[in-house]
Amino acid sequence: MKKILILIVILLSLGATGIWLLEDDDFTASTPFNTHEAENELAVPTLIDSREFDHDIELTIQNAEHEFYDGISSETMGFSQSYLGPTIKLYDNENTRIRFTNEIGEETTIHGHGLHVPGNLDGGPQNSIGDGETWDVTLPIQQQASTNWYHPHLHGNTAAQVHAGLAGMYIIEDENSLSLPLPKSYGVDDIPLIIQDRNFTDGVMEKYSVDEDEMMDGKREDTLVINGTIDPYIEVPQGWIRLRLLNGSNARFYDFHLADNEPFYKIATEGGFLEEPVEITSMLMVPGERNEVMIDLSDGNTRELLAELLPVDDDRFGSNKKHIEQVLEIRVDQSIQGEGELPEQLNTIIPWDEDDAVVIREFELEMEEMEESMSHGDMMDMHSMFSINGKAMDMSRIDEEVNLGDIEIWRITRDEMDHPFHMHGVSFLILSENGRPPAPEDQGWKDTVLVGYGWTELIMKFEHEATEEYPYMYHCHILEHEDGGMMGQFTVQ
Ligand code: C2O
Ligand code: CU
Ligand code: CU
Repeated sequence: MKKILILIVILLSLGATGIWLLEDDDFTASTPFNTHEAENELAVPTLIDSREFDHDIELTIQNAEHEFYDGISSETMGFSQSYLGPTIKLYDNENTRIRFTNEIGEETTIHGHGLHVPGNLDGGPQNSIGDGETWDVTLPIQQQASTNWYHPHLHGNTAAQVHAGLAGMYIIEDENSLSLPLPKSYGVDDIPLIIQDRNFTDGVMEKYSVDEDEMMDGKREDTLVINGTIDPYIEVPQGWIRLRLLNGSNARFYDFHLADNEPFYKIATEGGFLEEPVEITSMLMVPGERNEVMIDLSDGNTRELLAELLPVDDDRFGSNKKHIEQVLEIRVDQSIQGEGELPEQLNTIIPWDEDDAVVIREFELEMEEMEESMSHGDMMDMHSMFSINGKAMDMSRIDEEVNLGDIEIWRITRDEMDHPFHMHGVSFLILSENGRPPAPEDQGWKDTVLVGYGWTELIMKFEHEATEEYPYMYHCHILEHEDGGMMGQFTVQ
């Protein structure tokens, strides 16, 4: 009898856990992670290798229906597919033409996040593609191997279009990446993971909408969707695998780790490889960030890649409440041996010299409470709520003018909550966080960075041109904040 009672108590608490998983606030450190079965094979976006397509690619930006759950379709958008877009492989020193045809029934733009291309090819808010129009862009790739992405950037409407499914990966290869003995077999041992969160009602993805709280905190939803797959698993060869993670969520911050805090290796940040692999046990990623990691599966055992969904909370590091979800179950097919290895040396990073910086620009990311903006008598004017240095985004105003070829230091602070700060057209190095150098795993080229308490100093060299007609953007990558005006424009010439 006692045994049965204990069993019932265990079952009840497991059941209760399942319900608690929906509420951030009800988590305690002892709550086990979400034990949804990994029952769906991970979708891997189609690979379009520019070399195999004569450097000429066509994509249709389309309305679609996608089955996140078997037999239940949701209204989505995608690039020539039902949700997300193909992974496009580009090469250093090669030009690739891409024709994006817009068939979604409304205006959009397609930005190459992480690409070092001039402003007129960057796909920012000025590169509008009207309904029925084609944007014909030839991307002159001049940058090191890295994992980047493309997504809409129409001012005021980015969040909704990305949310509907408009996002895809650009992978850049160069001589170095091709010569390293890393796993390189796309979808087999070199696996893209686009991590998003969505809400579902009876299996149907909820359409994008935001209330005032969601504007402030950013839209955060309950179900993880990986490459458009819910509760995914993948079967991989025995040996080393390489994961390319992209936080493609509107607003969620994730801390990734393996079950039992098993170590793994970070090999690349947004703009390229680290100098050498860095052993880590967890990896924080804010929206817009990409990182590449390697996991050793030579023992043939299944691994669980997990993510802690971080709360909107200033002192989240002091909090003992955790909300952990499984991202991907990684199963090993022991009949296939992987070919990749973890190299000792990956890259050479020659940092810009602080003394060569011609200017230190300061940026404060600011939010205004709803009450304050209501007292201004215009509560619906979201533009008054989000700003940088006191100014909300204005497409007709250039905020900063940079001289082509200059090295600069940008010092970013924030007033209320943490924000992911992103710059177009350039990769930077983190110079310091509150006067301290970044952790070894963050000492790589980046274009998106968490700005927390205190200040974050970035150093970069501007090597590509952006005119007043087609300026570059800098902004918060919480898409609600970006749409709300936490964005500015700069020229480089
Ligand atoms: Cu990923 Cu300006 O954007
Ligand atoms: Cu960008
Ligand atoms: Cu923000």
